[in-house]
Amino acid sequence: MKVTIIGAGNVGSSCASLLSHKDIVTEIVLLDIKPMISKGKSLDISQMNVVCDINTRLIGFGNDFSKSENSEIIVITCGIPRKQGMDRDELLNINAEIIHFVTKKSIFFSPKAKFIIVSNPLDIMTYVSYVTSNIDSSSVIGMAGILDSARYRFFLSEKLNISPYNIHTVLLGGHGDYMVPLYRYTSISGIPIKEFISEKENEIIIEKTRKGGEEIVNYLGTSAWMAPAASIVEMIESILKNSKKVFSCSTLLKGEYGIKNIYLGMPVVLGKNGIERVIELNLNNEEIDLLKMSYNSVKNTIKKLKIKI
Ligand code: LAC
Repeated sequence: MKVTIIGAGNVGSSCASLLSHKDIVTEIVLLDIKPMISKGKSLDISQMNVVCDINTRLIGFGNDFSKSENSEIIVITCGIPRKQGMDRDELLNINAEIIHFVTKKSIFFSPKAKFIIVSNPLDIMTYVSYVTSNIDSSSVIGMAGILDSARYRFFLSEKLNISPYNIHTVLLGGHGDYMVPLYRYTSISGIPIKEFISEKENEIIIEKTRKGGEEIVNYLGTSAWMAPAASIVEMIESILKNSKKVFSCSTLLKGEYGIKNIYLGMPVVLGKNGIERVIELNLNNEEIDLLKMSYNSVKNTIKKLKIKI
């Protein structure tokens, strides 16, 4: 099994490191516009793997996409990350050009690959990759919901002093300030969350979740990478092992909730065919309104897209 990761920055290299430690793929190719970076990081991780008794082969190259040939999965992490004071949407046009370019190159060498997009603004970059690749939308998937759900579970676990392992949730909408973690669909070992925390207290946790990425940017001066990398690896594992796990991922909507032709976070089943099913929920009016707000926010950003795809 071969996975190519495009972008050897913080997210890409952490993903290579975590993925190699799962020992589920034979080869990881790390590509970056700066070959010195991908080569250096690949060597460092490979040498760590020797210490840790891991056999995954990892090699770094520059922009030589032929090295990605016949990958089962292509992970796109390249582009510029957020800096302090920046909104994810401010990266739109620079990253759209980059995602368009790397998708075109990599689909040529791996026409059957599943694509996992990580670059921001996430839902729109996934859409750009989907249109560029011209493959079925089940094979082009955006990583955001696992990360945002992890943040929500983390903040809930801190508040309630309960292991996040037992906290399950569903998150809808775009990876931005209008993401929609669903209180009604959150539970602790099957017990509805409302037994533990009021809707009002939960609102504070949701706000913290929405600002979770920004909080880290404010501390580090750049975007988070460890939790995003771990989230990508969860997706890769479910696809390669055909586990059919349910995660919130950014997916193309085809009429769910009356929305079409846009990528947004939804609970999906991930298996060997990529997104095998989008799970549509019986939302109440308030939840539908929140989803529509998130949809409008992504749609308004798409209007600022200058690139022709
Ligand atoms: C975050 C970035 C990866 O939410 O969007 O941390």
